[in-house]
Amino acid sequence: MEITIRIENINDYYDVYNLNKIAFKEDEEARLVDLLRKSTAFIPELSIVAIIEDNIVGHILFTKIKIIDDKGNQNESLALAPMAVSPNYQKSGIGGQLIKKGLDKAREMNFKSVIVLGHEKYYPKFGFEPTTKWGITSPYDVPTNVFMGLELVDDGLKNVSGIVQYAKEFDKV
Ligand SMILES: CC(C)(COP(=O)(O)OP(=O)(O)OC[C@H]1O[C@@H](n2cnc3c(N)ncnc32)[C@H](O)[C@@H]1OP(=O)(O)O)[C@@H](O)C(=O)NCCC(=O)NCCS
Repeated sequence: MEITIRIENINDYYDVYNLNKIAFKEDEEARLVDLLRKSTAFIPELSIVAIIEDNIVGHILFTKIKIIDDKGNQNESLALAPMAVSPNYQKSGIGGQLIKKGLDKAREMNFKSVIVLGHEKYYPKFGFEPTTKWGITSPYDVPTNVFMGLELVDDGLKNVSGIVQYAKEFDKV
């Protein structure tokens, strides 16, 4: 099974919408991706697709976020969300390939860290750790072990703490 992982282009938008809708069994995440593409948080190079036999079977998106401390200091980071793999192809490592490609590209673009709200057993495989380590908190009321961060470079989150501020589009869906 040959898998191509590449940056999304405009011709993929329709298929990416449908993929998210099928994977999440609702259209909330699909609409979120459409909204995020139009936002200032969007980074085209960090919207990545997985392709098998000309079909889009996976998608991952990283958008800009801010981490704001109690003194109002702001640090830029990235949020990994959402990520979807076609139900027919799940558990074959495509999600992992998308994450690795995204992290490599983000590092190449000089981003220092990534934050994810997700499954506590899955993301640690890629180096994510609970953000309590850095004193970084979610704006949403979620258990601390599902809110994780990863340093893309040494000390990428050193002296970074505070509450994460997602693109406002996250609250619109
Ligand atoms: C989450 C998702 C993208 C993972 O894609 P994938 O290609 O199946 O991932 P991989 O093959 O790299 O890894 C699969 C492993 O991660 C586990 N996993 C990942 N995310 C999980 C989650 N949210 N809940 C439970 N298990 C999860 C799987 O159980 C599996 O474990 P195993 O290998 O020990 O059996 C895919 O399952 C999906 O699209 N799910 C629906 C949408 C979703 O929940 N997205 C994540 C939130 S943004």
